[in-house]
Amino acid sequence: MKIKKAIIPAAGLGTRVLPASKSMPKEMLPIVDKPAIQYIVEEAVKAGITDILIITNRGKGVIEDHFDHSIELENMLEKRGRTDTLKELNDLANMANIYYLRQKETRGLGDAVLRAREFVGDEPFAVLYGDDVIIGETPAIAELIEAYEAFGKSVVGIKEVPDHLVVKYCSLAVEKNGDKTYAVSDMIEKPKLEEKLSNFSILGRCVLEPEIFEILERTPLGAGNELQLTDAMREVAKTKGMTGVDFSGIRYDMGNKFGILKANIEVGLNHPETKEELREYIKQLAKEL
Ligand code: UTP
Repeated sequence: MKIKKAIIPAAGLGTRVLPASKSMPKEMLPIVDKPAIQYIVEEAVKAGITDILIITNRGKGVIEDHFDHSIELENMLEKRGRTDTLKELNDLANMANIYYLRQKETRGLGDAVLRAREFVGDEPFAVLYGDDVIIGETPAIAELIEAYEAFGKSVVGIKEVPDHLVVKYCSLAVEKNGDKTYAVSDMIEKPKLEEKLSNFSILGRCVLEPEIFEILERTPLGAGNELQLTDAMREVAKTKGMTGVDFSGIRYDMGNKFGILKANIEVGLNHPETKEELREYIKQLAKEL
């Protein structure tokens, strides 16, 4: 079955990037000239997703405004003959069918995904974490969808990360079964170092089957007293098995101060309006470091 629906959980508190995220959702923090969540919506659309549910909470109305028309701004751009920018804004408002749902309590990523049960119905769907931007030639979620079609199992986007990150993310039991794919048979959320199964962690993307909702319903609260999506996916990994895709793009963690800086520098070095100036600036700056 073609995957047409995606969920973007964007209801976290973003405590690691305070005070920036106090009144501005971290998913709206910019990378050069676009908010993080726009890169994520664009990735989904490029992969053939037509319906997107963004999970929000209080104070995240700016996300809705961003993907809506801004008549005043559009009229002004038209009057001034700024046709390119006008087109860009129009495209943004017409990119996909975007729906919003509030997570009333911040009870974890698993709980945010569970809110999407009715939207998803009885078909496989994609999850793109709202603070994980992945930049690459091929949309990362398209690589996962391709693996779902090839292996017929739920899929997670994975990368090898150093020990100090494994303990903050999760650790997977994997066995290579293709060029960029792995069979995943177990996983553990925020393991202690002695519990780690490998250095492969899930980073920001998955393709799941609707059975996950029933599992989430009965999964007890886990690390941080939150409902962890990894805890529910573990059951799928251990019973049916899952596929891990070592996706080809570069992932930027927008929930982390250094991740935000890296994203801006690297995207800025490729952006037609900033690349030359930024390159010169960095070269000069590096001499003084
Ligand atoms: P994080 O694990 O980064 O959680 O969420 P967080 O609460 O936002 O961040 P910190 O640790 O306080 O800094 C991963 C993704 O899941 C969403 C977040 O918005 C982020 O995009 N999320 C997390 C929810 O939608 N709801 C939640 O209850 C928790």
